[in-house]
Amino acid sequence: MARVLPLGVLVSGRGSNLEAVIRAIEEGRLPARIKLVLSNRKEARALSIAAQHGIPAEFIDPKNYPDRESYDLALAARLKEAGVELVVLAGFMRILSPAFLEQFPLKVINIHPALLPSFPGVEAQRQAVEYGVKISGCTVHFVDAGVDTGPIIAQVAVPVEDNDTPETLAQRILEQEHRLLPEVIRWIAEDRVVVKGRRVYVRKEDKGE
Ligand code: GRF
Repeated sequence: MARVLPLGVLVSGRGSNLEAVIRAIEEGRLPARIKLVLSNRKEARALSIAAQHGIPAEFIDPKNYPDRESYDLALAARLKEAGVELVVLAGFMRILSPAFLEQFPLKVINIHPALLPSFPGVEAQRQAVEYGVKISGCTVHFVDAGVDTGPIIAQVAVPVEDNDTPETLAQRILEQEHRLLPEVIRWIAEDRVVVKGRRVYVRKEDKGE
């Protein structure tokens, strides 16, 4: 039996990935518990989604901190206080400083709407459509100090159709994000994810046979 993994989720906006993680937990598909949701944006819909599900959720205003590092350390302190062991970036639109990452070594993951290392950064789906690739998708990776550069845990491919716009492609990728993110968290909860340098392996499921 997997233990219940205490999660912290960092958000900035819509919160559909947060919602997918909440649903997976509520449906018993994910042995985890969200201890705290933190947002850098007050109006993030993700905050109200968390609240609707009885999950502690806080807006922490970057304006109250003199620099990026002190803000990030405030986030890290709240997450530690809440007993968080894995930090999930679900649409968190800031780059975390090394000071934050040192507090959670290989314990921060991100979901990105492209097949990294292609199309890092913002508007990945638009980048993919404009470049003309035939396949894009989504990636869950460990977070390092770069922009979407950390070791890749899992990817799902999504074909780009001739008539796709950035919006239609984003929608189809999003459906896969909602499947992939809870699944990767489950692998981590089950202690099946092994990191060797840049390469990440997922051990086969122990069916208890
Ligand atoms: C997703 O496309 C995610 O891949 C990217 O930001 C978006 C967040 O969407 N990092 P949501 O807030 O989870 O709905």
